[in-house]
This record gives sequence, structure tokens and C-alpha cells, in this order.
Amino acid sequence: MAKDENLDVFKNAPEEESAVKAGRKLRIGFIGTGGIANSHMKAYKQFDDVEVVAGADLIEGKAADFFAKYDLPDVKCYTDYKQMIAENELDAVSICTYNRQHAGPAMYAMQHGLHVLLEKPMTVTLDEAVELCRVEKETGKILSIGFQPRFDPNMQEIGKIVRSGVLGKIYYIQTGGGRRKGIPAQGEKTTFIRNETAGIGALGDIGCYSLDMVLNALGYPKPITITGYKSAYFGTDPNYYYDHPENAAVFGVDDFAAAFIRLEDDIILDFRISWAMHMNTPGDTIIMGTKGSLRIPSTDCWNGTVGGPMTIYTEVAGQQTQYQIPILPLKGLGRVERKVRSFLDAILTGGTSPVPTSQILINQAIIDGIAKSAELGHEIKVEIPEI
Ligand SMILES: NC(=O)c1ccc[n+]([C@@H]2O[C@H](COP(=O)([O-])OP(=O)(O)OC[C@H]3O[C@@H](n4cnc5c(N)ncnc54)[C@H](O)[C@@H]3O)[C@@H](O)[C@H]2O)c1
Repeated sequence: MAKDENLDVFKNAPEEESAVKAGRKLRIGFIGTGGIANSHMKAYKQFDDVEVVAGADLIEGKAADFFAKYDLPDVKCYTDYKQMIAENELDAVSICTYNRQHAGPAMYAMQHGLHVLLEKPMTVTLDEAVELCRVEKETGKILSIGFQPRFDPNMQEIGKIVRSGVLGKIYYIQTGGGRRKGIPAQGEKTTFIRNETAGIGALGDIGCYSLDMVLNALGYPKPITITGYKSAYFGTDPNYYYDHPENAAVFGVDDFAAAFIRLEDDIILDFRISWAMHMNTPGDTIIMGTKGSLRIPSTDCWNGTVGGPMTIYTEVAGQQTQYQIPILPLKGLGRVERKVRSFLDAILTGGTSPVPTSQILINQAIIDGIAKSAELGHEIKVEIPEI
């Protein structure tokens, strides 16, 4: 198994720059006040050492409507995030924009002295991800990526099982999952399905989670080669949408992707992800090792946890046997609250990013490699530039 040499590669802000003087609340701004911004906002509201002071959304009036919902009439609202950053002494921003607007605002915010909590997927392309990581390194700011499933104790258990050695040497992983009918185009909201806003479909949207689930457990081994496939048979079919058949014409991303990925340390990763399919699941996640294998039941929609008790298959004294790992309850803060809290704590202590880009860069390289291989129609070699 690869040791997690990707963790803590970047040294973030030196303490005197990043630690906020005691007694002052962290000043937070929002870039993008659409769907997911609500979960960030609900989390910030639970913590009394932060205040949300400004927000920007491209759509005139949207930020003001958003903060009014939370009874925060004094939050300053903008359509231009650069103006927001110039006019407010912010410590950090939550970036809740659609995928194509992740890298640009995140780099700008760090270059202007702010820590960044950026939604997933980190970027659309590997090139953008590399540029973003370089800015993070240059500026020394904390950049954490919105992978809240990592804060689920059952997800964390997967890594603990792998690291315990009970599975032996891992050589094969099957992962993925997805939805039977779950293209995220709700009503007239089409930001997830347009190429110009999303840039990537199921592959990035939920594929990033399922890749993170297994790669994080294994210490993020790097990809060597990828054979990828993607399709859009459902999203481009007007009959798929009951109420908005016109969405088919603007659908510009994938709704299904699959790949065969060769990882370092002689590990094969077999991946498939779906927003729509005529199947209940494209399969459970399985991690196969020389001493035992782990089955992680798939979930219906990829909501950030395992789909049921996990099973370990092994052999004891010549007998084939299996046992279940019970589901662990989530106590205290929820997953999103933990993702936000861990980011705030990293700022306050001058620590490193809780969801480090040094790992997510590898996740992004795989997503990018699947997309490129699918477009080229053949296997590709993956090279991740030095940051
Ligand atoms: N972690 C999670 O559980 C989770 C869940 C849903 C979505 N997401 C991610 O969050 C992101 C946003 O998803 P959503 O559902 O909120 O989308 P959305 O379309 O509802 O909201 C995005 C908002 O960003 C605004 N925006 C875009 N570019 C901007 C810019 N440069 N400046 C200011 N505002 C800008 C848009 O006008 C829009 O209001 C996506 O990348 C998605 O993958 C994460």
C-alpha cells in the first residue's frame, strides 16, 4: 500500500499570518449563493467565532435574497466578488459557485490574502488544478475542498480497516455508484448540466466522492494509465425530463462514466459512476487484498456515507468466513458542519488544510484522465506536474 506521502505536502500560512488574534471573529464572505451555499451558511451560523459579513453572486439580487432568508440584513451584497474582496476585510471565503467558476475565484481570493473553502469537484481540468495548487503554495493560504463525506465515521472506518493490515496487500478496487434517475437539473436550474457552467457531469460531480472514498483510504496512490469512457444518452434525450424537455438541448456534460485505472503499487481501480441508468446500482465498492476483502454497499444517490454495514471476507484456519462492520453513528456536528469547522480550526491554529489539495490533485488527475481518454478513445498515460 502506498504510504500517504501526499498529506501535508504544502506548508500553509505561517502562524503569525494565519492565526487570528483572540477575541476577534473570523470574517467570512461567500462567492456564489445558490444551492450548496445554504449548507455552508447553516454551518457558519452554528459557530460563534465567525461572522458572515459579505456575499457575491453574479445574479443581481440573489445574494441579498439569500442572506435575507437567514435574517442577516447587514451582510454586504455584490455581483462582483472582486469588489466584495476589495471592500471588506475578510479572513476567508466559501466558494459555492458552479464548477467552471471554482479555480478563478479561488486563486484570486488567495492572491488577495484570503483562506478558501472551495466546493467539490476542486476544478474541471487538471491544468486548472495545477495552477490552483501553485497559487496555494505561493500564497501560503489554507485551501480546503468540500468533501464532507470524509467527516463521516463510516467513511473514516474504511481507511482504518485498510491501515490495520487485515486486508493484506491491496491489488484490486472496484468503486463508483450513482443514481438510476438523478440528473441534477431541478426545474429550470441547469447549472449542473451545461458545459459552460459545470464543464463536467456525473464523472466530476459524484465521481469525485467515490474516488476519494477509496483513494483516501489507501493513502492516495498515483494513477499511471487510464482507459476512460463517458456518455450522455439520458441527459440528451428530451423524454428523460418530464417537465423540462428543453433541458436535453443544453445538456453538455456526461451522465455516465467508467474507467480502468492502473495505480502505482500494482493496484487496479475499476470505476463507474452514473447520474442516470436502467439499473439499481452499477455495483458495490469492493477493496480486494491478499488477506481479506472489503465490501462497501452502494448508496442510491451518493449522499456521503456508506450504504449499509460493510463486510470483510477472509479465511481463518482454512475456513472461508466473513463478518460485518456495524454502521457507526454520527455524533455531535454533522458532516458539513465538520467540513466547515475543520477549515476554521486550520485558520485559527495556523494548521494545514483538512482536505488537502495535494490529495485532491490526484483525484482531479484521474477525473481529467478519464475525460481525456474517453475523448481520444484510447488509454492515456497520466503525468501530474510538480507543484
Ligand atoms: N458538497 C456538497 O454536498 C455539494 C452539494 C451540491 C453542490 N456542490 C457543489 O457546489 C457547487 C455549486 O452548486 P450549487 O448547487 O450551489 O449551484 P447553483 O447553480 O445553485 O449555485 C451557484 C451560484 O454561483 C453563482 N456564481 C457562479 N459564478 C460566480 C461568480 N464568478 N461570482 C459570483 N457568483 C457566481 C451563480 O450565479 C449561482 O447562483 C458545484 O460545484 C457543486 O458541485 C457540492
